[in-house]
Amino acid sequence: MKTAKLFLSLAVFAVLGIFLAAAQAAPKAAKSKAKQTKGEAKMEQTEKSGIKTLVVYFSATGNTKKVSETLAKAADADIYEIKPLKPYTDADLDWTDRNSRSSVEMKDKKSRPEIAADKFSVRQYDTVYVGFPIWWGTAPTVVNTFLEKHDFSDKTIIVFATSGGSPLGNSAKDIKKSVSETANVISGRILSPSATEAELKKWIESLR
Ligand SMILES: Cc1cc2nc3c(=O)[nH]c(=O)nc-3n(C[C@H](O)[C@H](O)[C@H](O)COP(=O)(O)O)c2cc1C
Repeated sequence: MKTAKLFLSLAVFAVLGIFLAAAQAAPKAAKSKAKQTKGEAKMEQTEKSGIKTLVVYFSATGNTKKVSETLAKAADADIYEIKPLKPYTDADLDWTDRNSRSSVEMKDKKSRPEIAADKFSVRQYDTVYVGFPIWWGTAPTVVNTFLEKHDFSDKTIIVFATSGGSPLGNSAKDIKKSVSETANVISGRILSPSATEAELKKWIESLR
């Protein structure tokens, strides 16, 4: 009889325990469902606003600007121009003069020409096309100034450039050094300033 009573009270405790555990778990499950719904809503919002992709570029003489504008249309992206605080003059761009501003800057990998301060943020973008003219086989250091001012963690960066014939060379490698280790840097290609929207759409597709 005593054993039966003991067994009964043990069974009651076990059932109570299960109830209590279930009651505790229920709000947790509801909370995580709410979290999930919030996340989904955020994703939907981003998709609706259609501003997940950015084209950011530097251009000294207009070639990269031209193709960046076409690329932004092709990629349905926002566009942002990196503007040096002190614009480059023709004399600054004289690559035959070893003392010109561009020659001096490009000889010093650590040079970071100042850019105009503004409130622009890359936070809302997942994919960022980064474009520039090839200078001495790589990106002008003013591009590094911009990259180091922003947080590119977990973003995909697609590098493109215009040039007088040189390939992208070390551009992507040099850009990687200026962004978070978690950024996925893709070495894209040299683009013609006169590339059409259709041509650029094809290129974008080929990256997927
Ligand atoms: C300082 C300087 C260095 C350059 N170095 C190279 C180079 O190494 N290889 C190359 O093919 N073109 C070079 N170019 C040519 C530019 O990459 C090319 O003209 C580019 O399309 C200019 O783009 P932008 O009009 O957007 O500034 C150089 C131009 C300048 C001004």
